[in-house]
Amino acid sequence: MPNIIKHKYHISREDRSKKNGHTSLVLWFTGLSGSGKSTIASKLEERLFKQGVQTYALDGDNIRSGLNKGLGFSREDRFENNRRISEVAKLFMDAGMLTITAFISPLKEDRDQAKNIIGRENFLEIFVNTPLEICEKRDVKGFYAKARAGEIKNFTGISAPYEVPETPDFEIKTEEESVEESVERLLKFLEQKILYH
Ligand code: PPS
Repeated sequence: MPNIIKHKYHISREDRSKKNGHTSLVLWFTGLSGSGKSTIASKLEERLFKQGVQTYALDGDNIRSGLNKGLGFSREDRFENNRRISEVAKLFMDAGMLTITAFISPLKEDRDQAKNIIGRENFLEIFVNTPLEICEKRDVKGFYAKARAGEIKNFTGISAPYEVPETPDFEIKTEEESVEESVERLLKFLEQKILYH
């Protein structure tokens, strides 16, 4: 960037982690619309918050109605959506938060970009693996019916691709366990990842 010189501030991520009593990381949820990302992410956040963990959650619909208002669902817009979220997630992580994101992030390229921005060592990919048939049957928002009818274009799983993560750090199959069971498993998994000082 021409004429931009970064200023170095003196309170580091480590300082903040020490104060908070735990490591900061990004838990990146990915999965189809209606897969259960937000539901599980939200319950997980409640549990972590109750344990005294400093958390913050960034969610697709919420960010799209503020920071990313104006971005649609074309390939380019999704890429930019995911890029901005990755940068914001990194800021929250630097601020010492256990940061949770819940975005479809449909392509490997989107998720690789997120890993590069945030840093692989700070990034846990959580795949909410609910098959399309089940998401479509649930159709909580009625979007799948509209997408089938051609009323919503570029709908993930119907008229836009979703590339399944090949080696997620954690996988959830919502047709095999309840939300509570998924959250318990996640909390166990995180015990080794969030180091308490
Ligand atoms: S992405 O692909 O990561 O940029 O998407 P994301 O920011 O997570 O936004 C997904 C939510 O937007 C609604 N919605 C759509 N999803 C997919 N495809 C199309 N065309 C679309 N149009 C609107 C939908 O409610 C998604 O919410 P979730 O929570 O995933 O169901």
